[in-house]
Amino acid sequence: MKVLAISGSPRKGKTTDRVIEEVLKGVEGCETEFIRLAPLKISPCNACLGCVTDNVCKIKDDMVTLREKIVAADAFIIGAPNYFSMLNGITHNFLERFCQFRHQSCRILAGKLGVVVSTGGVQPEIPGQQIETIFSYYQIDHVGTIAVHGAASCFTCGHGEGCDVGAVQMMYGPGTKITDDIIPDLSKQAEKIIEAQELGQLLTKRLAQKVASVA
Ligand SMILES: Cc1cc2nc3c(=O)[nH]c(=O)nc-3n(C[C@H](O)[C@H](O)[C@H](O)COP(=O)(O)O)c2cc1C
Repeated sequence: MKVLAISGSPRKGKTTDRVIEEVLKGVEGCETEFIRLAPLKISPCNACLGCVTDNVCKIKDDMVTLREKIVAADAFIIGAPNYFSMLNGITHNFLERFCQFRHQSCRILAGKLGVVVSTGGVQPEIPGQQIETIFSYYQIDHVGTIAVHGAASCFTCGHGEGCDVGAVQMMYGPGTKITDDIIPDLSKQAEKIIEAQELGQLLTKRLAQKVASVA
């Protein structure tokens, strides 16, 4: 069984990537691949309808190779951060291109399994809700979602303490001094590390059930 993990965070090795890696630790006996979207060139859907006849997008960019991996996968782990109370743009572009999988009653992704990793500085659950919506459009069987607080850039931008529109004051109020202990980090959220690994284990179990049901 193949598990394709996709991170839409532009920040390599930060919260979204790290939570996905923890989910992958719980996945056993499967071929796994972890792809970061940020270095790839993936345009948004341009609504050309070129994919209507054959379910293949006509935009020639990195989604061409990704399409093959998506079709071959038995399960997805898709992670994205919250940008302005929305799914971030890199992930949105990628998910828009799923349009090629749903023409003429085609159900290319139907029955594949999906895990969602959702991160945010203040509201980590929002991008995950949007990924779950995409899963339902494509009849991807949603196994579970994990939402984790990551450090908003306001903690390190240099102006966080005095900025009344930033995450520091939004989370802790005016006059807050930025100290290590108030900066959200996965390493301080032991329960989230366990939850992520358990989600990976659940995905393994669900994949095994799928194999058993077709045998
Ligand atoms: C442009 C931008 C906008 C953001 N907007 C929000 C937001 O509206 N709500 C929120 O909870 N976090 C917001 N964040 C914080 C990120 O979601 C948070 O830092 C998350 O951990 C980023 O994921 P990463 O650690 O994988 O990069 C924003 C971050 C950036 C860079």
